[in-house]
Amino acid sequence: MPLIVSSVPRVIVTGASGLLGRAVYKVFREGGYDVVGTAFTRAKDGLERLDLTDFEAVTKFVSEQKSQLIIHCAAERRPDVAERDNAAALKLNVQSSEHLARAAQQAGSAFIYISTDYVFDGTSPPYNVDDKPNPLQFYGRSKYEGEVAIQNVNPNAIILRVPILYGEVEYNAESAVNILLDVVRDKNKKTNMDDVQVRFPTHVEDVGRVLKQIADRITIEQKQVSGVYHYSAKEQFTKYGICEVIAKADGSDISHITRITEAPKEPVASRPNNAQLSTTRLEQEKFDVSHVKFEQWWKDIIKSSAKKDTGSEEVLEKLDMILVAMMDLVDEYTALQESCGKLLNGAFFNLAQAKYAIGPSRLTQYQYDLRMQSSAIIETNEADAETTFTLERKKPTANKPSSVTTEKKNTDSLRQRTNRGKTEDETTKENDPPVVQSEAGASKPTETKKSERKGPIEDPLNWFGVLVPTPLRTAQTEFRQGLNTMVALANVARRLNELCNKYDKLQRSR
Ligand SMILES: NC(=O)c1ccc[n+]([C@@H]2O[C@H](COP(=O)([O-])OP(=O)(O)OC[C@H]3O[C@@H](n4cnc5c(N)ncnc54)[C@H](OP(=O)(O)O)[C@@H]3O)[C@@H](O)[C@H]2O)c1
Repeated sequence: MPLIVSSVPRVIVTGASGLLGRAVYKVFREGGYDVVGTAFTRAKDGLERLDLTDFEAVTKFVSEQKSQLIIHCAAERRPDVAERDNAAALKLNVQSSEHLARAAQQAGSAFIYISTDYVFDGTSPPYNVDDKPNPLQFYGRSKYEGEVAIQNVNPNAIILRVPILYGEVEYNAESAVNILLDVVRDKNKKTNMDDVQVRFPTHVEDVGRVLKQIADRITIEQKQVSGVYHYSAKEQFTKYGICEVIAKADGSDISHITRITEAPKEPVASRPNNAQLSTTRLEQEKFDVSHVKFEQWWKDIIKSSAKKDTGSEEVLEKLDMILVAMMDLVDEYTALQESCGKLLNGAFFNLAQAKYAIGPSRLTQYQYDLRMQSSAIIETNEADAETTFTLERKKPTANKPSSVTTEKKNTDSLRQRTNRGKTEDETTKENDPPVVQSEAGASKPTETKKSERKGPIEDPLNWFGVLVPTPLRTAQTEFRQGLNTMVALANVARRLNELCNKYDKLQRSR
């Protein structure tokens, strides 16, 4: 099938949740490609979940995506794991790779298979692309078998062999290089470290950039690229040497790490002594093979993560402080709620006691006015917790509500303003409408000019003057205190709400 051509080239990256795949995905996205990343157990943040061992699903996915290129990064790349479960390693590294390469061929997509320097035995470096592989361990064999299988079904496939990788990780053990930072920092653990076998640690984003140049050549320049390529950084280190570089960048001492200068006699999952990959073919074909400087990268990453740690520590401290303040407020709220409940229950109990003493109609009026006062307090408090209020009464009737307005003032409490400087009798005379008895026995305030006067209304109880029984007075006091407590409660709730918002905002900024 002819290769697919379109204006914005689409590329599928398998293993886009892994160490290399993440970097490749990023480089291609930033490079203007339409990238579809696939993952398996970590399929999140826009990655497609695709089990590469499910051949039917793979065929369907590849034919639907119509990509111009597939970069196959997914693999079992842990030598010890591959050694323990040969069948699983073969299934992913060989059979799935073969199936994917075939599906790519059928769909007209170019195909790149990522392989490893472990296909060589490490006895005669540097290795060129046509040197004969001779893997020492099962992992290397499975990757090499993968190479052979994909070339059989897809002769135009590209194989890019790379050495040990490092870069930004989700956790240090993700990379055989980054994990040495943990070793360097773990002063309590005595560790032996090999100072014989040579490694060429290569940054994952450098690999991504080389892959993008190959992709550009295929999709933009429309040139034929196929066969085996090698890419590697050129700085060489032993594992002990890597620890030294990291320790220097970290300002750490490595006296807990012992340098081992003799090659192991019976290595487990043997590693090649020096499998240096020659980048000659890439260079001959005018690809840029430059790379980041190993020591500088470590200095930069340690510096920037130290900054991040300090930043996040400060934020954590702030979050802790907010949490403590919130817990205090919750305690305050609970206590206020309890006392509010007690006061209002008491008020209702006393009201019930007083019911017969003042008659149901007066009681209704009284209860009504108290309710209006409470809603005024609550409404006002919502707008401004420091607000106090004035009640205005137009026509106080048994069944018709008084109108209520609020007024912002940081002044005395309602109770103080109501009766300040007056005796109970004076207050009653001045403000209370006379009460007449209706035929049905219900009492209602008469409508007088005075009663229509606007201005702060007084306690409705004062209308009843000396007739007011003690339980009603107690109810009144309890109501007032209950309402004040409600103001305080609403205040606490508002402060709590503010802190919650602050907490959320800080959390999001981390
Ligand atoms: N790391 C090195 O030092 C190194 C050195 C030389 C060559 N290489 C080669 O570079 C390539 C990338 O290695 P890496 O270090 O990035 O590997 P990695 O971090 O272990 O990532 C492996 C990837 O494979 C995916 N995967 C595993 N099983 C899958 C399945 N059944 N179906 C679909 N996806 C599956 C994983 O997805 P989930 O995590 O979502 O499950 C993950 O994205 C491999 O070909 C490896 O052989 C690596």
